[in-house]
Amino acid sequence: MEKGYDVHGTIRRSSVDYRERIAHLEGHPNFHLHYADLGDSMSILQVVKKVRPDEIYNLAAQSHVQVSFDSPEFTADVDATGVLRILEAVRQCDLTDTCRIYQASTSELYGKVEQVPQDEHTPFHPYSPYAVAKLYGYWIVKEYREAYDMFCCSGILFNHESERRGETFVTRKITLAAARIAQGKQDKLYLGNLSSLRDWGYAKDYVECMWLILQNDKPEDFVIATGEQHSVREFCQLAFRYAGIELRFEGEGENEKGIDVKTGKVLVEVSPDFYRPTDVVNLWGNPAKAKRELGWNPQKTTFEQLVKLMVEADMAKVAVERAGERVRTNLEEYLEKGIVK
Ligand code: GDD
Repeated sequence: MEKGYDVHGTIRRSSVDYRERIAHLEGHPNFHLHYADLGDSMSILQVVKKVRPDEIYNLAAQSHVQVSFDSPEFTADVDATGVLRILEAVRQCDLTDTCRIYQASTSELYGKVEQVPQDEHTPFHPYSPYAVAKLYGYWIVKEYREAYDMFCCSGILFNHESERRGETFVTRKITLAAARIAQGKQDKLYLGNLSSLRDWGYAKDYVECMWLILQNDKPEDFVIATGEQHSVREFCQLAFRYAGIELRFEGEGENEKGIDVKTGKVLVEVSPDFYRPTDVVNLWGNPAKAKRELGWNPQKTTFEQLVKLMVEADMAKVAVERAGERVRTNLEEYLEKGIVK
């Protein structure tokens, strides 16, 4: 919207409100919402027909890797066939010459990695129902590009995080827990594989790159990553440090624990509940092509800055929640005493 675009988004009908992250946009004259679902081709066709977009960013997905083991069919329908539904809608509305399409592809395609670091030439080895579905999405985009000369591209994005990240992804789970533990609202954090390695970047920088991919002269696929790798354990240690707690890790595997250096209290434990049947443990991207051909800066926000901004946002969020609790507690007391009615 800052670039002067009219933005049309799609939402799914739900009886509970889940629009918290876009609430600040609603009511803006350049922002429009339509009901649609990637599992429903008619709804996609209808929106594309009505809006006749110049650019489509397909960021919709069942995007949780662990959940894809519990809901593999839904994941396949949305993350694989859903991509086809968008491509077909554009074709059937005769927009192939004017509409550019960005597909949110993923570093999960590298899965059980065959090369470190990974770039546009690294072979894929998907290692979850999510990644297998995303692999179809990647290939069908390539197919439509070649078969119908469409400007459609995949951004092979490594993990991108922010203060808006869903609370069940590991980074946000950690920053929120660190903030809650630091403010006395939680006792412990349970995590899965602490040794898993990821190339974590800032979502805001990555979205800028998605846009650059669609402004490029030719439709191509790009790896988007920072080129730096850290473990879940490192992320955790740094997040707690920014929340004012120094952690020391002791033990191995399921017995590993994160201990508060100052108090000796165990604050982080491992729970097998968060292990995956097959886990991707060594993601590390090489963003050289995006840097060279799009002029994108993969190090705009450093790992330390990313962790810090996420912890600061959660520290503030938890503080506001606590203030709200105090107000409620006072109000409850006043109601009980009959001071307010
Ligand atoms: N979610 C979660 N919860 N992950 C944990 C936990 C935990 O308690 N403990 C350890 N992990 C490990 C996971 O096993 C995984 O190896 C790593 O932390 C990162 O997990 P997630 O944050 O859930 O993200 P992801 O890497 O599986 O997938 C994300 O990034 C992909 C791009 O590489 C998602 O955003 C995908 O949609 C995206 O495609």
